[in-house]
Amino acid sequence: MGDMKVSLLLMLICLITGLVSAELSSTYYLTKCPTALLTINTQVTSAVIQEPRMGASLLRLHFHDCFVQGCDASVLLDDTANFTGEKNAFPNANSLRGFDVIDSIKSLLEILCPGVVSCADILAVAARDSVVALGGPSWSVQLGRRDSTTASFNLANSELPAPTSDLTTLITSFSYKGFTTQELVALSGAHTIGQGRCKLFRTRIYNETNIDSSYAQSVQANCPSTGGDDNLSPLDVTTPNTFDNAYFTNLQSYKGLFHSDQELFNGGSTDSQVNAYSTNSATFSTDFANAMIKMGNLSPLTGSSGQIRTDCKKIN
Ligand code: HEM
Repeated sequence: MGDMKVSLLLMLICLITGLVSAELSSTYYLTKCPTALLTINTQVTSAVIQEPRMGASLLRLHFHDCFVQGCDASVLLDDTANFTGEKNAFPNANSLRGFDVIDSIKSLLEILCPGVVSCADILAVAARDSVVALGGPSWSVQLGRRDSTTASFNLANSELPAPTSDLTTLITSFSYKGFTTQELVALSGAHTIGQGRCKLFRTRIYNETNIDSSYAQSVQANCPSTGGDDNLSPLDVTTPNTFDNAYFTNLQSYKGLFHSDQELFNGGSTDSQVNAYSTNSATFSTDFANAMIKMGNLSPLTGSSGQIRTDCKKIN
């Protein structure tokens, strides 16, 4: 083979391995850290048994990670002299939970397989295992993400949707991340678990008209018109600790907690999909699982980008 052919072949091999290493794979840890998935699953399951809401909090952590700089565990970084991180951004401050669970999983994995399992992958698997622990669908998590060395306070403030958003704003913010309106509705079904704070739904329960009046009254009991800002209400009034399709049935009876929730069923283009999910939980489960896989693929760091943090809170 001539020199020319050899170098062409080498270039081709580099290109292919480059492409492969830029992709995630569900078997990534099979040889690199065979106990990784079981370790995460055991820890998540026991945390959710201890406190069901933790499943919701862990699912939300992955979402808030992926929508800001991609799924790179940037959400877990504490502020440093070089950057203000995401933890204190408006959507996250005094709101995101589950950091301790992620940290203790990471500590275990650093003993079992030092320097191998990324914090970003832990978040992705913990989100899936949380949904399963609360009775929801499972999916195959793509793995091999690496962790960022920076985080962004500003992006966390601008790219995460607000509970005051109208339908057009929600559609735009999800389409900006590559999601269709159908995927927005499917992913919103995550609000079938977890809790929200009074100050974020006060205006809705006191002033809005597209809300069931007895539901509004019952939520008002724990969310006064002044004070009690951090008092909690379930996002799904029917089955708050079960990952099911009740979120959508609630929307049909105008029992969405946030303004943004009820926007999905308020006479607009997404009403029909809410109706479909409320009558067919299997379709919701399939669509949710597929949309979660897509969310997990948002701009992962692979190859030699980023690092595998040894402590999820700070860079190495
Ligand atoms: C569609 C736009 C969305 C908006 C406007 C939104 C907004 C919110 C807000 C304001 C809270 C309560 C925060 C607090 O009271 O401190 C919340 C909770 C939650 N969100 Fe979303 N969210 C959206 C989409 C999603 C998605 C796509 C997921 C996951 C796939 C998700 C998962 C959750 C979960 C599980 C909780 C409860 C967390 C807990 O109890 O700790 N949300 N969301």
